[in-house]
Amino acid sequence: MAYLPNFPPIHFDFGAIQELGPELENRGITKPLFLTDQGLVEHGVFQQVTHVLPADQSWAVFDDIPENPTIDGVERALAVYKSEACDGIVALGGGSVLDSGKALRVVATQGGEVIDYLKHPEKIGANVSPYITIPSTAGTGAEITFGGGIHPEKNGPAMGIRSPLVKPDMAICDPALTFTLPPRLTAATGMDAVTHCVEGYLSINENAPTEAIALDGIYRAVSYIDRAVANGSDKEARYNMAMAALEGGMAIYMGLGPIHSLSMAFGNSPLHHGTLVTVSMPAIMRFYDGKVNDKLDNIAHAMGLDGGDGVGERIAKHTEEMNDRLGLPSGVREMGYEKNDLDAMIDEAFNSHFNLAAPVRPTRDEYRQIVIDVLGN
Ligand SMILES: [Fe+2]
Repeated sequence: MAYLPNFPPIHFDFGAIQELGPELENRGITKPLFLTDQGLVEHGVFQQVTHVLPADQSWAVFDDIPENPTIDGVERALAVYKSEACDGIVALGGGSVLDSGKALRVVATQGGEVIDYLKHPEKIGANVSPYITIPSTAGTGAEITFGGGIHPEKNGPAMGIRSPLVKPDMAICDPALTFTLPPRLTAATGMDAVTHCVEGYLSINENAPTEAIALDGIYRAVSYIDRAVANGSDKEARYNMAMAALEGGMAIYMGLGPIHSLSMAFGNSPLHHGTLVTVSMPAIMRFYDGKVNDKLDNIAHAMGLDGGDGVGERIAKHTEEMNDRLGLPSGVREMGYEKNDLDAMIDEAFNSHFNLAAPVRPTRDEYRQIVIDVLGN
């Protein structure tokens, strides 16, 4: 049976950020804690957001969320939330900031230790702090998803924070906030969105409306990513990449798959998630070739490619060419990954919960070859 969950309400367009003040008022949030990172303050993106607020709006800020989300970051944000007596959270950032907010909204109202909620999601209650997300990248989809990853230790593996109760209350997506995103991050986060659409579309969870959304996300991302990378101020390209990212977030509601399992295999390192998944996508498209061709045909069409025999190989090649054109690496070794324990990598990929939604799950032996292919030279 299909289950169609609902997404948070979303304001989307250039200028959408103007809705923040009225939304805080509507929701009775008198003093939000802004959660962000130092880069967004340095580049003036944070100021673009606070600038739209009425002069009498109180707020506090924690601007030190690290590049990968950690328990330590959430705990330090919590200290500010409490000392400033905040009554809601507004997160501005990429996936790290947006996921940190999901953990913060739980501990801010329910107390206890973050690690406890990561280990026991059933302990997360309905009493969570109000939470509005504002993405500053176009790719993670974390602005609307009900899960996230938090690293208990800075360079250790991430643990999931998974509960429908952490799903943000509202997202405000303003493509103008992505103008200063550098080309490499535009490319990597944009390709992350492609993999969300691809894996969500292929997942075993039927959801016809969201499947159509996922195909639209693939079409937009593949059509506009070159322009967004070449010229960060290209409004039309930024609009379409932000929409593709949001659609990727919706696609995640259907589940992900082995491309994201592989991000766990190499995730025990400070490698960028979006780069990892796009480097992993070709091997999985080749693995699926001949197994789920009806759906691969539709993905190919969304990419402007022909369906039919060898469609998985064509999608794989097209992805490799895109990665190359966008200045992204072709293998995980090229990203500077130096670990050599192949069996540990295979175990991580094989045991990942992301496999549960895959239309065909690679066996341990199949993962061995896939991991070798993805590592590259
Ligand atoms: Fe992803």
